[in-house]
Amino acid sequence: SLKVEIAKNSGFCFGVKKAIDTTMSVIEEKSVVSSLGPLIHNQQVVDVLDKKGLSVVQEPEEAKGSLVIRSHGVPLEIYERARKSDIDVVDCTCPFVRKVQKKAESCFKAGKKVIIIGDASHPEVKGINGWCGGEAYIIGSLEDVSKLPELDEVCIVAQTTMRNELFEQLSEAIAKKSKAAEIYNTICSATRERQDSCVDLAKRADAMIVIGGKNSSNTRKLVEISEKYCENVFFIETADEIDTEKFEKYDLVGITAGASTPDWIIEEVFNKMNNINDKSEMERALEESFVS
Ligand code: F3S
Repeated sequence: SLKVEIAKNSGFCFGVKKAIDTTMSVIEEKSVVSSLGPLIHNQQVVDVLDKKGLSVVQEPEEAKGSLVIRSHGVPLEIYERARKSDIDVVDCTCPFVRKVQKKAESCFKAGKKVIIIGDASHPEVKGINGWCGGEAYIIGSLEDVSKLPELDEVCIVAQTTMRNELFEQLSEAIAKKSKAAEIYNTICSATRERQDSCVDLAKRADAMIVIGGKNSSNTRKLVEISEKYCENVFFIETADEIDTEKFEKYDLVGITAGASTPDWIIEEVFNKMNNINDKSEMERALEESFVS
Protein backbone atom coordinates (compact mmCIF):
# COMPACT_ATOMS: atom_id res chain seq x y z
CA SER A 1 0.00 0.00 0.00
CA LEU A 2 0.92 3.64 -0.39
CA LYS A 3 3.32 5.08 2.17
CA VAL A 4 3.12 8.74 3.07
CA GLU A 5 6.02 10.52 4.74
CA ILE A 6 6.30 14.08 5.99
CA ALA A 7 9.76 15.67 5.65
CA LYS A 8 11.55 15.96 8.97
CA ASN A 9 11.75 19.73 8.91
CA SER A 10 8.71 21.24 7.31
CA GLY A 11 6.16 23.90 7.99
CA PHE A 12 6.27 26.79 10.45
CA CYS A 13 9.76 28.02 11.20
CA PHE A 14 10.88 29.60 14.42
CA GLY A 15 10.49 33.17 13.12
CA VAL A 16 6.96 32.69 11.82
CA LYS A 17 5.84 30.87 14.97
CA LYS A 18 7.17 33.69 17.09
CA ALA A 19 5.45 36.34 14.95
CA ILE A 20 2.11 34.58 15.24
CA ASP A 21 2.40 33.99 19.00
CA THR A 22 3.38 37.60 19.64
CA THR A 23 0.60 38.93 17.42
CA MET A 24 -1.99 36.70 19.09
CA SER A 25 -1.04 37.93 22.53
CA VAL A 26 -1.15 41.57 21.40
CA ILE A 27 -4.61 41.01 19.88
CA GLU A 28 -5.82 39.53 23.14
CA GLU A 29 -4.48 42.44 25.10
CA LYS A 30 -5.44 45.33 22.81
CA SER A 31 -8.03 43.99 20.38
CA VAL A 32 -7.19 46.72 17.81
CA VAL A 33 -4.13 45.68 15.90
CA SER A 34 -2.89 46.11 12.32
CA SER A 35 -0.13 44.36 10.47
CA LEU A 36 1.93 45.97 7.75
CA GLY A 37 1.06 43.60 4.92
CA PRO A 38 -0.44 40.13 5.56
CA LEU A 39 1.31 38.60 8.58
CA ILE A 40 2.37 35.46 6.76
CA HIS A 41 2.04 34.04 3.25
CA ASN A 42 -0.85 31.81 4.15
CA GLN A 43 -4.40 32.87 3.39
CA GLN A 44 -5.99 30.40 5.82
CA VAL A 45 -4.00 31.75 8.75
CA VAL A 46 -4.55 35.35 7.64
CA ASP A 47 -8.32 34.69 7.61
CA VAL A 48 -8.25 33.31 11.15
CA LEU A 49 -6.28 36.32 12.38
CA ASP A 50 -8.64 38.68 10.58
CA LYS A 51 -11.59 37.23 12.48
CA LYS A 52 -9.72 37.76 15.72
CA GLY A 53 -9.24 41.45 14.93
CA LEU A 54 -6.02 41.85 12.99
CA SER A 55 -6.46 44.24 10.07
CA VAL A 56 -3.94 44.50 7.25
CA VAL A 57 -2.62 47.93 6.23
CA GLN A 58 -0.24 48.93 3.48
CA GLU A 59 1.22 52.08 5.07
CA PRO A 60 2.27 52.48 8.71
CA GLU A 61 0.20 55.69 9.04
CA GLU A 62 -2.99 53.69 8.38
CA ALA A 63 -2.51 51.48 11.43
CA LYS A 64 -5.39 51.10 13.83
CA GLY A 65 -4.00 50.39 17.28
CA SER A 66 -0.57 48.79 17.38
CA LEU A 67 1.38 48.10 14.20
CA VAL A 68 2.81 44.63 13.79
CA ILE A 69 5.96 44.32 11.72
CA ARG A 70 6.12 40.83 10.29
CA SER A 71 9.01 38.38 10.37
CA HIS A 72 10.32 39.54 6.94
CA GLY A 73 11.25 42.89 8.48
CA VAL A 74 10.95 46.38 6.97
CA PRO A 75 13.20 49.25 5.83
CA LEU A 76 14.59 51.47 8.56
CA GLU A 77 12.39 54.42 7.49
CA ILE A 78 9.21 52.56 8.50
CA TYR A 79 10.22 52.78 12.18
CA GLU A 80 10.81 56.47 11.71
CA ARG A 81 7.41 57.01 10.11
CA ALA A 82 5.66 55.05 12.84
CA ARG A 83 7.43 57.10 15.48
CA LYS A 84 6.40 60.39 13.84
CA SER A 85 2.78 59.26 13.75
CA ASP A 86 2.99 58.10 17.35
CA ILE A 87 2.17 54.53 16.45
CA ASP A 88 3.07 51.74 18.83
CA VAL A 89 5.23 49.18 16.98
CA VAL A 90 5.19 45.47 17.72
CA ASP A 91 8.35 44.31 16.02
CA CYS A 92 8.19 40.67 14.91
CA THR A 93 11.21 40.88 12.63
CA CYS A 94 12.84 37.45 12.79
CA PRO A 95 16.19 37.65 14.61
CA PHE A 96 17.84 35.98 11.59
CA VAL A 97 16.51 38.72 9.30
CA ARG A 98 17.57 41.39 11.80
CA LYS A 99 21.12 40.04 11.60
CA VAL A 100 21.15 40.53 7.82
CA GLN A 101 19.74 44.06 8.17
CA LYS A 102 22.45 44.94 10.71
CA LYS A 103 25.16 43.47 8.51
CA ALA A 104 23.92 45.48 5.51
CA GLU A 105 23.80 48.62 7.64
CA SER A 106 27.33 48.28 9.02
CA CYS A 107 28.85 47.46 5.62
CA PHE A 108 27.05 50.43 4.07
CA LYS A 109 28.31 52.71 6.83
CA ALA A 110 31.83 51.39 6.25
CA GLY A 111 31.57 52.55 2.63
CA LYS A 112 31.26 49.11 1.05
CA LYS A 113 28.82 48.25 -1.69
CA VAL A 114 26.13 45.93 -0.37
CA ILE A 115 24.93 43.13 -2.63
CA ILE A 116 21.84 41.16 -1.68
CA ILE A 117 21.40 37.79 -3.31
CA GLY A 118 17.67 37.22 -3.44
CA ASP A 119 14.40 38.14 -5.04
CA ALA A 120 14.14 41.90 -5.66
CA SER A 121 10.37 41.90 -5.30
CA HIS A 122 10.36 40.11 -1.93
CA PRO A 123 9.53 42.26 1.11
CA GLU A 124 12.46 40.84 3.08
CA VAL A 125 14.91 41.96 0.38
CA LYS A 126 13.26 45.39 0.10
CA GLY A 127 13.51 45.63 3.87
CA ILE A 128 17.22 44.76 3.96
CA ASN A 129 17.88 47.27 1.19
CA GLY A 130 16.22 49.87 3.38
CA TRP A 131 19.03 49.45 5.90
CA CYS A 132 21.76 50.37 3.42
CA GLY A 133 20.33 53.51 1.92
CA GLY A 134 18.27 51.67 -0.70
CA GLU A 135 21.48 51.43 -2.73
CA ALA A 136 22.20 47.71 -2.70
CA TYR A 137 22.54 45.71 -5.88
CA ILE A 138 19.99 42.91 -5.84
CA ILE A 139 21.09 39.78 -7.66
CA GLY A 140 18.88 36.82 -8.46
CA SER A 141 20.65 35.16 -11.38
CA LEU A 142 23.92 34.87 -13.29
CA GLU A 143 22.44 37.21 -15.84
CA ASP A 144 22.09 39.85 -13.13
CA VAL A 145 25.74 39.30 -12.21
CA SER A 146 26.81 39.88 -15.81
CA LYS A 147 25.10 43.28 -15.74
CA LEU A 148 27.11 44.41 -12.70
CA PRO A 149 29.88 46.96 -13.28
CA GLU A 150 33.42 46.23 -12.10
CA LEU A 151 33.27 46.53 -8.33
CA ASP A 152 35.57 47.71 -5.62
CA GLU A 153 34.88 46.51 -2.08
CA VAL A 154 31.68 44.57 -1.75
CA CYS A 155 29.76 42.88 1.01
CA ILE A 156 27.47 40.05 -0.09
CA VAL A 157 24.49 38.87 1.97
CA ALA A 158 21.63 36.47 1.23
CA GLN A 159 17.88 36.57 1.56
CA THR A 160 17.34 34.14 4.46
CA THR A 161 15.30 31.72 2.33
CA MET A 162 17.68 31.47 -0.65
CA ARG A 163 18.68 28.16 -2.14
CA ASN A 164 22.17 27.41 -0.84
CA GLU A 165 23.57 26.13 -4.13
CA LEU A 166 22.44 29.23 -5.99
CA PHE A 167 23.85 31.51 -3.31
CA GLU A 168 27.25 29.86 -3.57
CA GLN A 169 27.25 30.04 -7.35
CA LEU A 170 26.21 33.69 -7.48
CA SER A 171 28.43 34.93 -4.66
CA GLU A 172 31.44 33.31 -6.30
CA ALA A 173 30.63 34.97 -9.62
CA ILE A 174 30.23 38.35 -7.93
CA ALA A 175 33.48 37.95 -6.00
CA LYS A 176 35.29 37.45 -9.32
CA LYS A 177 34.05 40.84 -10.51
CA SER A 178 35.16 42.72 -7.40
CA LYS A 179 38.47 43.82 -5.92
CA ALA A 180 37.57 42.55 -2.46
CA ALA A 181 34.50 40.62 -1.43
CA GLU A 182 33.18 39.76 2.00
CA ILE A 183 30.70 36.93 1.69
CA TYR A 184 28.11 36.36 4.40
CA ASN A 185 25.94 33.34 3.86
CA THR A 186 22.93 34.57 5.80
CA ILE A 187 20.55 31.79 4.74
CA CYS A 188 18.85 30.90 8.01
CA SER A 189 19.32 27.53 9.68
CA ALA A 190 15.58 26.76 9.53
CA THR A 191 15.66 27.21 5.75
CA ARG A 192 18.76 25.07 5.37
CA GLU A 193 17.30 22.24 7.45
CA ARG A 194 13.99 22.41 5.60
CA GLN A 195 15.76 22.26 2.23
CA ASP A 196 18.07 19.41 3.32
CA SER A 197 15.21 17.23 4.50
CA CYS A 198 13.33 18.05 1.30
CA VAL A 199 16.28 16.77 -0.76
CA ASP A 200 16.46 13.63 1.36
CA LEU A 201 12.78 12.84 0.92
CA ALA A 202 12.49 13.88 -2.75
CA LYS A 203 15.32 11.48 -3.64
CA ARG A 204 13.36 8.54 -2.24
CA ALA A 205 9.77 9.49 -3.03
CA ASP A 206 7.81 8.67 -6.20
CA ALA A 207 5.86 11.89 -5.81
CA MET A 208 6.27 15.00 -3.70
CA ILE A 209 3.54 17.27 -2.39
CA VAL A 210 4.78 20.73 -1.52
CA ILE A 211 2.36 22.77 0.56
CA GLY A 212 2.53 26.53 0.81
CA GLY A 213 1.34 29.89 -0.47
CA LYS A 214 1.75 30.45 -4.20
CA ASN A 215 3.62 33.68 -3.44
CA SER A 216 5.77 32.24 -0.68
CA SER A 217 9.35 32.32 -1.90
CA ASN A 218 10.69 29.66 0.46
CA THR A 219 7.93 27.30 -0.69
CA ARG A 220 8.74 27.90 -4.34
CA LYS A 221 12.34 26.94 -3.57
CA LEU A 222 11.11 23.67 -2.08
CA VAL A 223 9.26 23.06 -5.34
CA GLU A 224 12.46 23.69 -7.34
CA ILE A 225 14.43 21.34 -5.10
CA SER A 226 11.78 18.63 -5.29
CA GLU A 227 11.65 18.89 -9.08
CA LYS A 228 15.37 18.33 -9.23
CA TYR A 229 15.17 14.97 -7.47
CA CYS A 230 11.64 13.76 -8.16
CA GLU A 231 9.61 13.57 -11.35
CA ASN A 232 6.16 14.10 -9.91
CA VAL A 233 5.80 17.28 -7.91
CA PHE A 234 2.51 18.81 -6.79
CA PHE A 235 2.45 22.36 -5.44
CA ILE A 236 -0.69 23.00 -3.42
CA GLU A 237 -2.04 25.44 -0.86
CA THR A 238 -4.67 23.28 0.83
CA ALA A 239 -5.77 19.65 0.96
CA ASP A 240 -8.75 20.46 -1.31
CA GLU A 241 -6.43 20.70 -4.28
CA ILE A 242 -5.37 17.07 -4.03
CA ASP A 243 -6.80 14.63 -6.50
CA THR A 244 -6.08 11.40 -4.63
CA GLU A 245 -6.57 9.21 -7.69
CA LYS A 246 -3.37 10.56 -9.15
CA PHE A 247 -1.41 9.10 -6.26
CA GLU A 248 -2.77 5.59 -6.15
CA LYS A 249 -0.04 4.24 -8.41
CA TYR A 250 2.83 5.37 -6.17
CA ASP A 251 4.65 3.55 -3.37
CA LEU A 252 6.02 6.51 -1.46
CA VAL A 253 4.60 10.03 -1.42
CA GLY A 254 6.58 12.72 0.37
CA ILE A 255 5.10 15.84 1.91
CA THR A 256 6.92 19.04 2.72
CA ALA A 257 5.70 22.54 3.51
CA GLY A 258 6.95 26.11 3.47
CA ALA A 259 7.71 28.22 6.53
CA SER A 260 4.24 29.72 6.71
CA THR A 261 2.24 26.52 6.51
CA PRO A 262 0.59 25.62 9.82
CA ASP A 263 0.67 22.05 11.13
CA TRP A 264 -3.10 21.63 10.72
CA ILE A 265 -2.85 22.03 6.96
CA ILE A 266 0.04 19.54 6.78
CA GLU A 267 -2.00 17.10 8.86
CA GLU A 268 -5.04 17.52 6.64
CA VAL A 269 -2.98 16.65 3.58
CA PHE A 270 -1.35 13.72 5.38
CA ASN A 271 -4.72 12.33 6.44
CA LYS A 272 -6.22 12.76 3.01
CA MET A 273 -3.31 10.82 1.48
CA ASN A 274 -3.59 8.08 4.06
CA ASN A 275 -7.27 7.74 3.26
CA ILE A 276 -6.21 6.43 -0.12
CA ASN A 277 -5.10 3.30 1.73
CA ASP A 278 -8.38 3.06 3.58
CA LYS A 279 -10.22 3.44 0.30
CA SER A 280 -8.20 0.78 -1.47
CA GLU A 281 -8.65 -1.53 1.51
CA MET A 282 -12.37 -0.92 1.26
CA GLU A 283 -12.32 -1.65 -2.44
CA ARG A 284 -10.36 -4.82 -1.82
CA ALA A 285 -12.85 -5.95 0.80
CA LEU A 286 -15.64 -5.23 -1.64
CA GLU A 287 -13.93 -7.17 -4.44
CA GLU A 288 -13.32 -10.06 -2.12
CA SER A 289 -16.94 -10.16 -1.17
CA PHE A 290 -17.83 -10.42 -4.85
CA VAL A 291 -15.38 -13.23 -5.40
CA SER A 292 -16.79 -15.29 -2.59
FE1 F3S B 1 13.30 33.56 10.32
FE2 F3S B 1 14.29 31.76 8.75
FE3 F3S B 1 11.78 31.73 9.35
S1 F3S B 1 14.76 33.88 8.76
S2 F3S B 1 11.25 33.81 9.61
S3 F3S B 1 13.45 31.42 10.76
S4 F3S B 1 12.64 31.18 7.40
